[in-house]
Amino acid sequence: MKQREQWSSKIGFILAAAGSAIGLGAIWKFPYMAGTNGGGVFLLVFLLFTIIIGAPMLLAEFIIGRSTQKNAIHAYKHLAPNSKWHYIGVLGVVASFILLSFYSVVGGWIVTYIVKSFTGQLSNLNANEFGVLFDETIVNGPEVLLAQAFFLLITIVVVQSGIQSGIEKASKILMPLLFILFLVLIGRSLTLEGALEGVRFFLMPDFSQLTSSTFLLALGQSFFALSVGVSIMVTYSSYLQKGEDLVKSTSSVVGLNILISILAGLVIFPAVFALGFQPDEGPGLVFVVLPAVFDQLPFGMFFLVLFLLLLLFATLTSAFSILEIVVSVLVRNKPTNRKKIAWISGAIIFILGIPSALSFGIWSNITIFGFIMFDFADFLVSNMALPIGALFIAIFVGYRIPVSILEDEFFQGSKASKLLFQLWLFAVKYIIPIGIGIIFLHSLGLFS
Ligand code: ALA
Repeated sequence: MKQREQWSSKIGFILAAAGSAIGLGAIWKFPYMAGTNGGGVFLLVFLLFTIIIGAPMLLAEFIIGRSTQKNAIHAYKHLAPNSKWHYIGVLGVVASFILLSFYSVVGGWIVTYIVKSFTGQLSNLNANEFGVLFDETIVNGPEVLLAQAFFLLITIVVVQSGIQSGIEKASKILMPLLFILFLVLIGRSLTLEGALEGVRFFLMPDFSQLTSSTFLLALGQSFFALSVGVSIMVTYSSYLQKGEDLVKSTSSVVGLNILISILAGLVIFPAVFALGFQPDEGPGLVFVVLPAVFDQLPFGMFFLVLFLLLLLFATLTSAFSILEIVVSVLVRNKPTNRKKIAWISGAIIFILGIPSALSFGIWSNITIFGFIMFDFADFLVSNMALPIGALFIAIFVGYRIPVSILEDEFFQGSKASKLLFQLWLFAVKYIIPIGIGIIFLHSLGLFS
């Protein structure tokens, strides 16, 4: 039988995990969530939750994955045989199908924008026209579906041949490039006239904007951006060799993710205020504002294409990890079936994503609990499946896995202190379950 793959190096794992984490969550979703939920106050709650809940969760998933070297379902079976705990993994797999179904819609929008920028449709537009272009793009059913299919096609082709090939090497070059381009953009955005108001909006919390939904949305955003709660990181760390420092990997991934989220906000909000956009534009925010910022730069079109390509890359590396969790569960007993399973899963995800793709256009009148299908799929995953998954993973790690295993994994290759371990365990046992519980009850209106 073919051996399970492994990451080729420590940096390879950090890059792959950061690649899974950094994607649409930090660059597309975070700015629009912050924009629709009060700016600075959302940033504050998001940072708080990422540090006290998201980071310990990530480490918890890393520990399950590396200690068992098994996929998202069998990891739980291995640690808790003859129990129902593996349903955490089942929830993760189901949630991953839904997650990738709407994630690939946005991936498709990026593909469409790349084509549009090559054909000159993004040049010389004013602020209003950038908005119109986005609206026209997302209502065009056939185009959106074609682009979504193309995005999924790339994802399937990469995932079918195994996690390592190419991802590690490409990440080493392209992720730093994305970071540099962000710095250039921030330079331009911050020097626009009227930019300061945007900086204030993004960095100064206005507590009057805090609503009962802010907490659940910020928590969901934190989990979405870190890819935690659905055992994606269990799967990725199961390919990790023994001896790597999981504590350091956690802080690198969390740190990079926070950094990219803040950079995205610092590009978007100054430009929103300086160029006359609205911060609560919704899912189109990045697609409308960024081309307008590039328009203000010398060689703007060239940089826009470069940025979109890098954004596509960041989005794809996240998509790979989402499809990987599904494939790794389904191929477990027959590694030779990997290709077939990747294609079948990808096809199912595409079909599942059709309602989301069309929900801005011809199916915009179909709603569930007041949400169009795209928003419903997002809500179901980000604000239900991820927090519920995280709640059970935390309880599993905190109360079911023997402390000796936790200690062994935590300290392997790490110089972290005993105190840090105690703090982490405290977070997993108490802060995360109680925190998620309170946030859920609060969002149901039981605690307000
Ligand atoms: N963590 C992934 C992202 O943020 C899902 O794009």
